[in-house]
Amino acid sequence: MSLLSRNLDLFDPIDAVVSEQSSREGQLEAVARFVRECVLCPLCRNRRNAVPGEGDAEAAVMVVGEGPGENEDAQGRPFVGRAGELLDKILEAAEFPRSTIFITNIVKCRAADMVEGRMQNRAPMAPDVAACRPYLVRQVEIIQPKVILCLGSPAGKGVIDPGFSITEQRGKWFEGPFGSRIIATFHPAFILRRGGAGSGARDLKKLVWEDMKLIKNYLLEAGS
Ligand code: URA
Repeated sequence: MSLLSRNLDLFDPIDAVVSEQSSREGQLEAVARFVRECVLCPLCRNRRNAVPGEGDAEAAVMVVGEGPGENEDAQGRPFVGRAGELLDKILEAAEFPRSTIFITNIVKCRAADMVEGRMQNRAPMAPDVAACRPYLVRQVEIIQPKVILCLGSPAGKGVIDPGFSITEQRGKWFEGPFGSRIIATFHPAFILRRGGAGSGARDLKKLVWEDMKLIKNYLLEAGS
């Protein structure tokens, strides 16, 4: 079982507001409003904009990244920087254009520290991921995707299992909520850090493509 199962038995104000909405779009927007005002972890202190996520409320595929970077923080939208450009290419090659999927992150605010006078991105910490998880859990509950695709190690650890290893466990299926399946692949930013043609980036792209084919074939078999 993934870390996305609900473990809340107390009355929760998000549920009360979400349940007033009749459409999935309205429910997702209700969650997004809570995210934009969230002060549950220290990441809220430096944010310019929270990034709740965006996309098709009926998506068969939900993509979960690590967290907003500088561009996403500036625009309030997920994957709008260089990693986002590569992600768009990967998704389009697999015939899942952005308009057909939902994209979000394990944390909805930028994780960054001041280093030598500049904010530098860092991986979100476990308590930040835990504080943000109820938003992701609700987004999954509302959309009920068939496949949840985790990008990179922090997303795998935050969604699948804290002991998740991207090198050993990418391309493997895990059980998700509502009959969904979860799979992880390399984060596009990791591929970009490996550099251009002739470098390890080409091998990584090949592996990512294999993972995308697994998703495509699964959805074809499932009739989506
Ligand atoms: N990297 C992520 O993991 N998420 C974003 O939204 C942007 C870059």
